Amino acid sequence: MAKITLNNVRKTYAGTVETIKGVSLDIADGELLVLVGPSGCGKSTLLRMIAGLESITSGEISIGDRVVNTLEPSERDIAMVFQNYALYPHMTVYQNLAYGLKNRNTPADVIEARIKKAATTLEIEQYLERKPRQLSGGQRQRVAMGRAIVREPSAFLFDEPLSNLDAKLRVQMRVEIKRLQRALATTSVYVTHDQMEAMTLADRLVVLNGGHIEQVGTPIELYEKPATTFVATFIGSPSMNLLDRARGGFDLSGVPEAATIGIRPEDLKVVSDGQVAGYALRADVTVGAVELVGAESYVYGKLSSGQDIAFRVSGRSQIETGAQMTVAAHSHDIHLFDAGGARLAGH
Ligand SMILES: Nc1ncnc2c1ncn2[C@@H]1O[C@H](COP(=O)(O)OP(=O)(O)O)[C@@H](O)[C@H]1O
Ligand SMILES: [Mg+2]
Repeated sequence: MAKITLNNVRKTYAGTVETIKGVSLDIADGELLVLVGPSGCGKSTLLRMIAGLESITSGEISIGDRVVNTLEPSERDIAMVFQNYALYPHMTVYQNLAYGLKNRNTPADVIEARIKKAATTLEIEQYLERKPRQLSGGQRQRVAMGRAIVREPSAFLFDEPLSNLDAKLRVQMRVEIKRLQRALATTSVYVTHDQMEAMTLADRLVVLNGGHIEQVGTPIELYEKPATTFVATFIGSPSMNLLDRARGGFDLSGVPEAATIGIRPEDLKVVSDGQVAGYALRADVTVGAVELVGAESYVYGKLSSGQDIAFRVSGRSQIETGAQMTVAAHSHDIHLFDAGGARLAGH
């Protein structure tokens, strides 16, 4: 068990611009921290620097009480789980699980006990004598996790471990990883570009954008109080509507000055003309497209000014393209941002 600390960590790959632009983070002992952000924002680079697979250009990384900047990966007492499982195809599951421990000269009885325990936890006892090719994707993923678990490291690092799995299995494994991490209470850093995976797994989330941290917080904090328009549109689906106040096409009452008005699609209510009293925002929408996703539908339309707006309605609503509707939002559901995209204080 260990906390992990990053202090103003920077990375510039040879011959390129700075990739990680000064990241500071305190990851608590036993915490599951998720690094989320779009492709290319530096998630893998940051994780690989913690693992020791990539050098640190400047700054300091500590695992437990040790500064690990110059330590080899094998000296850092961490285990990494990748998206390509990297199992040895010619070895059985048991041999795959034993391999790393044997290399570290772990006594045979300890190896056996740890594999037994991990196999039970992961429910792969009946596959120990199989080769990886005789396993399904989900089972292989479990073995890959088993290999990390048997080492009993002080931290787990995950780099998009589920992105090769189909949608259903991904949800199952995500629940599984959460359960395992809780049970083992091992400090974990989990990288994903998938905001849904991030929201459901994380104790805390770090939203990374272009090599810097946009915001750190619990999933609900980021959902309710996004610090920037980037976080506001990255977390939540469909994305938060960002309306340019200068372009207009909507009516406001009692809303402070702000360059950009944010409203989540789920916070917009369809109202009839007589019902608009008491709302802080009101807008007429021409419906462009309706997407039925089951229990609900997403409606995409335009304001009179041409600005895009999306909102959610019950899946049973019969809304046609071209329909004219009025939507409204309460003041407590309105997010305000300045021209630079920062959330306005006190709101
Ligand atoms: N070994 C490397 N050499 C040079 N540039 C790299 C190297 N690895 C990654 N990069 C660049 O660093 C940036 C961040 O990459 P990466 O950390 O893989 O992002 P992510 O995991 O968030 O998709 C990208 O622009 C990528 O092209
Ligand atoms: Mg990556």
